[in-house]
Amino acid sequence: MLKKYNELKSIVERELSCSAHNIDHVKRVFNTCITIAKTEKNVDLDVLLPAALLHDIARVKEIQDKTGEIDHAELGSDMAEKILDELGYKEDSIERIKHCILTHRFRSNNPPKTIEAKILFDADKLDAIGAVGLSRSYMLAGQHGQRIYINKPIKEYMENNTVENGRLKDISKHSPMIEYEFKFKNIPKKLNTKKAKKLAKARIEFMDSFFKRLKFEIEGIE
Ligand SMILES: [Fe+2]
Ligand SMILES: [Fe+2]
Repeated sequence: MLKKYNELKSIVERELSCSAHNIDHVKRVFNTCITIAKTEKNVDLDVLLPAALLHDIARVKEIQDKTGEIDHAELGSDMAEKILDELGYKEDSIERIKHCILTHRFRSNNPPKTIEAKILFDADKLDAIGAVGLSRSYMLAGQHGQRIYINKPIKEYMENNTVENGRLKDISKHSPMIEYEFKFKNIPKKLNTKKAKKLAKARIEFMDSFFKRLKFEIEGIE
């Protein structure tokens, strides 16, 4: 089994090689899946772990796609089917792994149904919050030339920089603290498993204290 995971890991590493950030994310999600799985019953690790390794396999293809039509969850589950078939996985396992990959994104019309899919969904979302979440947000902020913070009321920012459906007008005017207020804070209530909710609570508390501290320092308060 370990041999198969190592083969899967090298395939994913090759596919995501132009983005070190993505492969590190995959490894973290893999580890968090194991942590959550230990607290749940009847988890098939031979479904969950391949799904964790393969869940973002089409991420680079989605980013490079100029048409905006590629959904990495959909394409990823098709790519996974081929890879797993070549590695000798049984049809039933392949279908269950594909379900995990297909439902790992936030989609109200396609929620994760199996325990393995729920764990993968939770582990993937946990990676957007806490110390890792903050680091990822600030890396992205740097890439888009954003400021460390926005020193005006969030309501005013939203009126000036969002268009219909909450989409951003100008990403360079965005900031991690806005993402935190509107996105990251809501993650815990979207999770499925008890363990993930507990981990999420601690990660959000950490982010909260970070942004409070940041505000103090911006305002020069001791
Ligand atoms: Fe993803
Ligand atoms: Fe992911």
